[in-house]
Amino acid sequence: MAPVTSLSASVHQRLADALSAALPEAGAADPLLRRSDRADFQANGILALAKKAKANPRELATKVVEEITNGELLADVEVSGPGFLNVTVTDRAITETLAARAADGDRLGVPLKDEPGTTIIDYAQPNVAKEMHVGHLRSAVIGDALRQMLDFTGEKTIGRHHIGDWGTQFGMLIQYLIEHPGELSPETDTDGDQAMSNLNRVYKASRAVFDADEAFKERARKRVVALQSGDKETLGLWQRFVDESKVYFYSVFEKLDMEVRDEEIVGESAYNDMMPETARLLEESGVAVRSDGALVVFFDEIRGKDDQPVPLIVQKADGGFGYAASDLSAIRDRVVGLHATSLLYVVDVRQSLHFRMVFEAARRMGWLNDDVTAHNMGYGTVLGADGKPFKTREGETVRLEDLLDEAVQRAAQVVREKARDLTEAEIQERATQVGIGAVKYADLSTSPSRDYKFDLDQMVSLNGDTSVYLQYAYARIQSILRKAEHLRPVAHPDLELSPAERALGLHLDAFGDTVFEAAAEYAPHKLAAYLYQLASLYTTFYDKCPVLKADTEELKENRLFLCDLTARTLHQGMSLLGIRTPERL
Ligand code: ARG
Repeated sequence: MAPVTSLSASVHQRLADALSAALPEAGAADPLLRRSDRADFQANGILALAKKAKANPRELATKVVEEITNGELLADVEVSGPGFLNVTVTDRAITETLAARAADGDRLGVPLKDEPGTTIIDYAQPNVAKEMHVGHLRSAVIGDALRQMLDFTGEKTIGRHHIGDWGTQFGMLIQYLIEHPGELSPETDTDGDQAMSNLNRVYKASRAVFDADEAFKERARKRVVALQSGDKETLGLWQRFVDESKVYFYSVFEKLDMEVRDEEIVGESAYNDMMPETARLLEESGVAVRSDGALVVFFDEIRGKDDQPVPLIVQKADGGFGYAASDLSAIRDRVVGLHATSLLYVVDVRQSLHFRMVFEAARRMGWLNDDVTAHNMGYGTVLGADGKPFKTREGETVRLEDLLDEAVQRAAQVVREKARDLTEAEIQERATQVGIGAVKYADLSTSPSRDYKFDLDQMVSLNGDTSVYLQYAYARIQSILRKAEHLRPVAHPDLELSPAERALGLHLDAFGDTVFEAAAEYAPHKLAAYLYQLASLYTTFYDKCPVLKADTEELKENRLFLCDLTARTLHQGMSLLGIRTPERL
């Protein structure tokens, strides 16, 4: 593996050195480099520095230009405006840097972090005995992408699927199952649809009895106590609900083309044993106090209706522990047991108050501190075409599986229209990759904190910012590479590059920097935007620069080389987002 320094990092370094030489008193100075339309890069940092040093910015800029040592990297550095620098790199530098990337397999020359930390990602956390809905889709898709992006930078990641597998509703469910044995399917069941329909049936039936029958309600309540005190029979039945639900979860994750590991499904109940101690530590340190019998944490800055402080309830007056106690215990486990340096929660923004309170309580306890940070990547709501939270026509929440199936069906139409030489089985396979990719991409290409409209027509459209557009770009390149026959992608650094080639090349070189930035900011949409722009720049290149019909063999090879690196970058980027790139479409 050979990490490659990006052109922008090299130029940055060159300018920073020249700046320090021109203005030694400024120390390490940031030239504030960005890509620019006028030249390859523009440096805007001189203005601020000159102001600080009470120097004339244009004069300082001119001095910087004189200090710059010129080698093979820079073609031109020019002072512009009040003190900007326009920087153009040589064609040779572009082609050589890209050639080094191309020689580095899947990593494309992207270095690994110097000091990786350990990030625990809490994502894809459905609830036992309940159907998954679009909200769970977002957590799964965003979490999975962030995780792969972080992994790619060299960060160590551990997943935690904090499934909702505990709570008073299990009293009702278990009691019903005791009174109606055989309602869940045999333990060997592996059909996810069947599992969910069994769970749904038991859920609805038990709810009906619970609401209608006072005596049953009382028996269900006693069952909660039995569950909490660890009664064997009760726990065994509870486990049946968890196992049956997992069969269903796995079927959905498989549909989503997402790997979920069993040892990372660590739900609310996993922290039961820690909760009494968590409460004791909180109470002894005075972070939590007794209030009307309950153990609570107060926050001056967090107030609800009528300006009343909203407390975080660690333990209810009846002794029961809930969601907050489980999350506080999970933090202890992740920090002390798993040695986390970052905790990332991919959870609906509507739970952000809960996390604010949990994090603040953990900070007061010292569980979170300067070395361990926590962040709730609170995502927005999925909206229907009408701009309201996505519901079925009957006003019910949309079943995630129905939605995914429909996306695949629509994708099949698109694939079929384009497909000339594909068999039906191939069409179905492509449709799955296109349909699931479309759903994921639509989710990932908007900033996670924002709401977005679930619009299948737009998602599977070939035009615009969609995954299908990117998948087509990839497949088109593969077709060119197949047609190239005896010609190979080979870089020729002596060749002059046209504007479209330079633009594509400079963008290809920015892949690693983009992944690092997007991962550090937990912003998968920045990677999506990068890939979309890559496909657009490729389209322009393809229109302007004939590849297989270029004038010379060298030119053909060099253009094929750009095609190949574009395809590999698209493939790697899409795969970090969890999206497939079929070889043919
Ligand atoms: N199961 C919860 C829900 O569906 C999400 C869990 C989020 N994670 C956590 N550590 N609280 O709303």
